Amino acid sequence: MTSKDTPATEEAHDGAASSSHEMPLSIDTSVAHVARVYDYWLGGKDNFAADRAAGEQAIQAYPDIVYSVRANRAFLARTVRYLVKDAKIRQFLDIGTGIPTANNTHEVAQSAAPGCDVVYVDNDPVVLAHARALLVSGERGHTSYIDSDLRDAGRILAEATLTLDFSQPMAIMLMAILQHIDDADDPYGIVARLVEAVPPGSYLVLSHPAADIETEAMADMAERLNRLMAEKVTFRTRAQVARFFDGLELVEPGMVRVQQWRPDTEKEAKSPAALWGGIGRKG
Ligand SMILES: C[S@@+](CC[C@H](N)C(=O)[O-])C[C@H]1O[C@@H](n2cnc3c(N)ncnc32)[C@H](O)[C@@H]1O
Repeated sequence: MTSKDTPATEEAHDGAASSSHEMPLSIDTSVAHVARVYDYWLGGKDNFAADRAAGEQAIQAYPDIVYSVRANRAFLARTVRYLVKDAKIRQFLDIGTGIPTANNTHEVAQSAAPGCDVVYVDNDPVVLAHARALLVSGERGHTSYIDSDLRDAGRILAEATLTLDFSQPMAIMLMAILQHIDDADDPYGIVARLVEAVPPGSYLVLSHPAADIETEAMADMAERLNRLMAEKVTFRTRAQVARFFDGLELVEPGMVRVQQWRPDTEKEAKSPAALWGGIGRKG
């Protein structure tokens, strides 16, 4: 089914319905998609009945998922601020953009320092439909959008050169996306290829849902999502996530639960979140 033959007023939340004129006709609303399920957990409006059903199934298995996704967004904002203010990074390759929400990468980076350039990459047609909202270029910096699959790293790198200067350090961001790359698709090889393409002084920042925190609830949630969602999930243990940083120097406090990576407040540090995250520097 596509958005064309779906009665938008019945199927979609207000946001999805009101922006449906911008939506490509290839959007399949009959099956849950992660960008829209994530939007639902964050309280957004760009989701359909199938996304909400999958989101609710996940909440039943792991009720803290709604805090987890917020903690992940807070981690994103803190790491981008760190990269701009402390590491003096001015270029970002953010793969797995998600549907725009509060504190998108370019907003956080460009408010920390003008002149930050951001390239977003996602393979979801709804994110593509919203890309225009992200493409604000001016004195504060450039943003561009690549409609591509993470598994096509060669294409991402080739298109990113149109906006980013690969002779200068940059940050590669892989926030809550690698769980959608099955081991058979060589996630470690993909990350290594991206890191190889950037110069020394660049950073890799990522977050990843954990298989070894709240183990039973997370396994139950993964099983439910894999039944209902188009993009399958593979949650990974701390050691498996740490492997993505092989060859890089971890920034303090290392790879930790995202809420414990330089939290701004006690409350933030205590938020429930079952994701590993960290920043690695290429020497
Ligand atoms: C859970 S959301 C995370 C969004 C954002 N990075 C964040 O942390 O808030 C995952 C995003 O990755 C995208 N995604 C999943 N698999 C992908 C793939 N193979 N290639 C490109 N994007 C993908 C989804 O469409 C979705 O927008």
